[in-house]
Amino acid sequence: MYLKLFSLMSLFVSISATSMAYADESAPVTFSTIRSTILVPKCVRCHQGPQAPDGIDLSIYSSLVSNQVFVAGDPANSDIFVQVSTGQMPFGGPKLSADEIQAIHDWIQQGAQNN
Ligand code: HEC
Repeated sequence: MYLKLFSLMSLFVSISATSMAYADESAPVTFSTIRSTILVPKCVRCHQGPQAPDGIDLSIYSSLVSNQVFVAGDPANSDIFVQVSTGQMPFGGPKLSADEIQAIHDWIQQGAQNN
């Protein structure tokens, strides 16, 4: 009984490890996807126009560049990734989903291009 349970658990662990590895090698993530699925619905009600906090307008790629919210290829040193992965942004919550955080991670990892 215990043995069976144990092997079921290891099966589950190996399946989740496999799907996580797959997520790491996900398809290219474009800025237009990030913008339309995350930034516009979850950030721009605050981060847009002249009143945008810290001057960061998240609806415009050039504003992400000029405010240095990312370091291309280096998510861990990218302010925008740190803010969403620690749950500091969106300000007041709710935190982005794991998939959304992963998408921002992957876009930066892949060069944070204006694509
Ligand atoms: C309810 C309003 C609001 C929403 C929604 C919001 N922000 Fe912010 N954001 C702020 C405010 C206010 C600040 C400045 C104060 C601060 O840094 O805590 C800020 C600052 C930031 C900063 C700079 C932080 C720093 O000081 O280094 C980044 C990056 C950022 N936001 C990203 C995001 C992203 C990405 C989203 C969407 C996932 C988001 N924000 C959603 C209000 C908001």
